[in-house]
Amino acid sequence: MEQYIIRGGKPLTGSVNISGAKNAALGMLAASIMTDEEVIIDNLPDVNDVNVLLEAISGLGASVSRKDHTARICGAGIKTTTADHEGVRRMRASYYLLGSLLGKYGSAKVALPGGCAIGARPIDLHLKGFRALGAEVALVENGFVSAKADCLYGAHIYLDKVSVGATINIMMAASLAKGKTIIENAAKEPHIVDVANFLNSMGAHIRGAGTDVIRIEGVEKLHGSEYMVIPDQIEAGTYMFAAAATNGDITVRNVIPKHLEATTAKLLEVGCEIHEFDDAVRVVGMGRLRHTQVTTLPYPGFPTDMQPQMAVLLGLAEGVSTITESIFENRFKYVDELARMGADIKVEGSIAIVSGVDHYMGAEVCAPDLRAGAALMIAGFAAEGVTTIDDIHYIQRGYEQVADKFASLGGDIEFMDTEHDIRTLSKKVS
Ligand code: UD1
Repeated sequence: MEQYIIRGGKPLTGSVNISGAKNAALGMLAASIMTDEEVIIDNLPDVNDVNVLLEAISGLGASVSRKDHTARICGAGIKTTTADHEGVRRMRASYYLLGSLLGKYGSAKVALPGGCAIGARPIDLHLKGFRALGAEVALVENGFVSAKADCLYGAHIYLDKVSVGATINIMMAASLAKGKTIIENAAKEPHIVDVANFLNSMGAHIRGAGTDVIRIEGVEKLHGSEYMVIPDQIEAGTYMFAAAATNGDITVRNVIPKHLEATTAKLLEVGCEIHEFDDAVRVVGMGRLRHTQVTTLPYPGFPTDMQPQMAVLLGLAEGVSTITESIFENRFKYVDELARMGADIKVEGSIAIVSGVDHYMGAEVCAPDLRAGAALMIAGFAAEGVTTIDDIHYIQRGYEQVADKFASLGGDIEFMDTEHDIRTLSKKVS
């Protein structure tokens, strides 16, 4: 079993480079096979979700090569529109292959997505969008979704809920439909804009990304491109909160400060000092944190992907804070783990009532999902004593070299692979 062992209790200080945005990269990788020409994607984060999607694309027949943070992808050799690579089922973002394959080939069959178990996470809005474009969509055997169309036609689509995934998926399919598509109540996250810019760099005609109405004029075909992924706002926010929780001083570099506004606003409210630069933000802890209220909302609201990290901070703030989770219904699973470290949090429906404690104590905890796992790391660095975190594969899905990056900030962290150690030991003994 792989674990992180963290000896906490000292401020994290220094600067850390932020990697490319995982959620933007996933949309782009799927979109990259919508042309037969070569696409080059730079600043690709080296995280498990990205690597699994690269393997899935390669499994379809695309040629894929990767060197450091640059991937070269060519979809000319695609032989099948059925994505049944074993990783696809485990990863939520594999749903993007539905939109890209349907748009390019008029046919897609993809295993229903998994990902972090933070709620029901249906994909009805994605499917509603594909149907509006003229596709026949069905749930078929073994948990596969199939979408087919002789031709896609532009349509007026209203999303009943703001959905990042549905917005990107419909944007991709509609890029190669005949005529004009309008997506109303579209998501506005920075990675929506980034994927739209990427598709436009391939010859798509998408306008309005970043607002709640996106207009897409379908084009005949897309062409090759070279594009650089934006920095990951959630990775950046995670290190910023680590500075606050450990009373440290961290500068996150290679970021777009505008994308971090909700995060910096909350850090100011709880009493941290913030210094903004062109492509960096410095967070300085100023002693005991103050309580506050937070509600997660679609961008530009406070991101649900920063909610567990916020709980770790507020768990150390004086007074009583509340956190309202308005996006996912099952995103407080980390509360029991944090309680083992001494946190005092009660959950009532979608609200967590957080009574601040003086300090956390090291404990053995399990990462219940990606962001909660990162939040537990922050708690571990803030805690007195030793924290052992299990199930770190969740964290590795979305954080590049997370142990090295925390270590470079002075964090005392060790990676343990107990099974590997036992295997090595038994080889030595035999
Ligand atoms: C994406 C992000 C995830 C982030 C989330 C919200 C990726 C790969 N993942 O997830 O990190 O936490 O946005 O910012 O980019 N919904 C429906 N029907 C649908 C689709 C969504 O009811 O067809 C609901 C969801 O259950 C949820 C809400 O809409 O309550 C928002 O979900 P959505 O924005 O689609 O999240 P994801 O794309 O899954």
